[in-house]
Amino acid sequence: MDSKQVIEMDNKYVMNTYARLPVVFVKGAGVSLWDADGKEYIDFVGGLGVAAVGHANPAVAEAVSAQAKTLVHVSNLFYTEQPARLAKKLVDLSFPGQVFFANSGAEANEAAIKMARRFANDNGRAGIILTATRSFHGRTLATLAATGQPDKQVPFAPMPQGFVHVPFNDVDSLTRAAQAGACAVMLEVVQGEGGVHVASPDYVKAARELCDKHNMLLVIDEVQTGLGRTGKMFACQHFDVTPDIMTIAKALGGGLPIGAAIAGEQACGLLRAGDHGSTFGGSLLTASAGLAALDFIVGNNLCQNAEDMGAYLRERLLEIRDATDRISDIRGLGLMQAAELKEPLAASVVDKCLAAGVVINRTSATTLRFLPPLIVTTEHIDRLAVVLKNVLEEL
Ligand SMILES: Cc1ncc(COP(=O)(O)O)c(C=O)c1O
Repeated sequence: MDSKQVIEMDNKYVMNTYARLPVVFVKGAGVSLWDADGKEYIDFVGGLGVAAVGHANPAVAEAVSAQAKTLVHVSNLFYTEQPARLAKKLVDLSFPGQVFFANSGAEANEAAIKMARRFANDNGRAGIILTATRSFHGRTLATLAATGQPDKQVPFAPMPQGFVHVPFNDVDSLTRAAQAGACAVMLEVVQGEGGVHVASPDYVKAARELCDKHNMLLVIDEVQTGLGRTGKMFACQHFDVTPDIMTIAKALGGGLPIGAAIAGEQACGLLRAGDHGSTFGGSLLTASAGLAALDFIVGNNLCQNAEDMGAYLRERLLEIRDATDRISDIRGLGLMQAAELKEPLAASVVDKCLAAGVVINRTSATTLRFLPPLIVTTEHIDRLAVVLKNVLEEL
């Protein structure tokens, strides 16, 4: 099938829940993608933060292929080695505790929300979970209710109850909400879908202290920030804060769907046999992919590369800001960066960059977002910079 036929068939038979760009990708390697016509692109979206180890990573491909030929799935009625090994690795990299495996970020957050509710009910307390305005925690009903973006919730009202949204980075508001009574605070320390907003150290520290003081669980959603993206294995490590529950997904499976909620010692006994589950959660196949992806991230020191290349990307974006007068702000942490445009032209910038062979993303009409694979090099960033500058100059 050629691109036109694929697009026509997709538009006719796949539910139109995504505003897709008119390109059909057929191949990837590292930071590059190729479309059905053989045109090469460099990818600064990275499958929305999934392709941390690069597209078609050989180590992940090898692990998945070997596992697929051995045993793919037996259900969680039985013990299997790979998820146990992956859970140990995650605990070793984060904090002492236990892991619940899901298939996505939203599902990992659902598990965290259920732990928080069980924590409240066990202690005879209000099951209120405090989350931040402009946050994003997923599209299932509970995670949508947790998400601090009313425009995404209104069409699906009524929302599940028990979520209170508190202004992001506002310590006083969080303090007042905690005093009013809650069982958990759920936070992204860098808000991703909300437009790449980094929390202030005071705010993250206050969240931890308030949780300790009022006996609440601190849930950090690292679905987008986790596994090296921000220059540390987990973004909360920039703030020297350890959560009670941390959720991850995206980069974890090297492209395969797997999510995890890591619960520290206070939280890991909250979900007991029969309380929660997932048919596919932590299958041999996705866990094998996860083991290979994690080994690749650690073995190739991708946290360091994310820090170094994040700094270089930021430098190049600042140069473009100064040269074009089109950008009002550059913000982010590591390889999670955004450029705020002075005018609502982000859609047109994304289209024009795509036509020039550079894949970028926008989170709003004014915000461009960059989430390249963590193996990105200065050469890739230079190529992005040339294209982006030209596009902004020609707008
Ligand atoms: C911080 C955060 N949490 C949760 C999610 C939901 O993850 P998923 O799309 O895998 O359900 C996302 C997705 O972008 C996210 O960025």
